Amino acid sequence: MDADSFRRALGNFPSGVTIATTTDADGEAWGITVSAFCSVSLSPPLVLFCPAVSARSHDLLRQAERYAINVLRPEHRTLAMRFATAGAEKFARAGFRTEGGVPVLHSALASLVCRASARYDAGDHSILVGEVESVQVNDGLPLVYFDREFRELSAAPLLAPPGRVDRYRDQPLFDTDGNDGSNAA
Ligand SMILES: Cc1cc2nc3c(=O)[nH]c(=O)nc-3n(C[C@H](O)[C@H](O)[C@H](O)COP(=O)(O)O)c2cc1C
Repeated sequence: MDADSFRRALGNFPSGVTIATTTDADGEAWGITVSAFCSVSLSPPLVLFCPAVSARSHDLLRQAERYAINVLRPEHRTLAMRFATAGAEKFARAGFRTEGGVPVLHSALASLVCRASARYDAGDHSILVGEVESVQVNDGLPLVYFDREFRELSAAPLLAPPGRVDRYRDQPLFDTDGNDGSNAA
């Protein structure tokens, strides 16, 4: 497998965009744009995110007892680029407040304040698992990262509301090219 195919395969998996934040011993705020975030467990409530070892914020995030994950909206795309720029003045006029000792973005679609639960080495990244202590949730749609571009979701679900997963049971398997998947191996 060549590196370009690997990148393109991963680029075909859409994700949300978050900013992971923490505060160091001197009270200075640190943060990094992260798409490698996902839920892990409901009970206990665990999430994980993956900072690159090469990121300036990596060691602080890895050692932090607490951090926050702030889920971004489409309006936050400039902020996402700022937090993806090493050496940028990231927190200036960005609308963060301190909660649980860590920076939380007021206008985030959701913010999760976490206590560090586990830390793993994973190639050129770390996997940081956090137990969620508190959440702030707002209404709206997320910023999406797909094929190396920021995107917006359409507000419309693919099936008429309520559009829950069980409503898909009797639908054709594929509907993009007229093949219903019945001949698939
Ligand atoms: C949409 C997007 C998603 C990103 N996701 C990650 C990620 O999951 N993990 C990571 O380490 N860096 C990710 N980055 C890159 C970091 O945000 C970037 O390297 C940043 O400069 C690191 O900041 P620092 O070096 O000041 O700590 C992402 C960048 C963008 C634009």
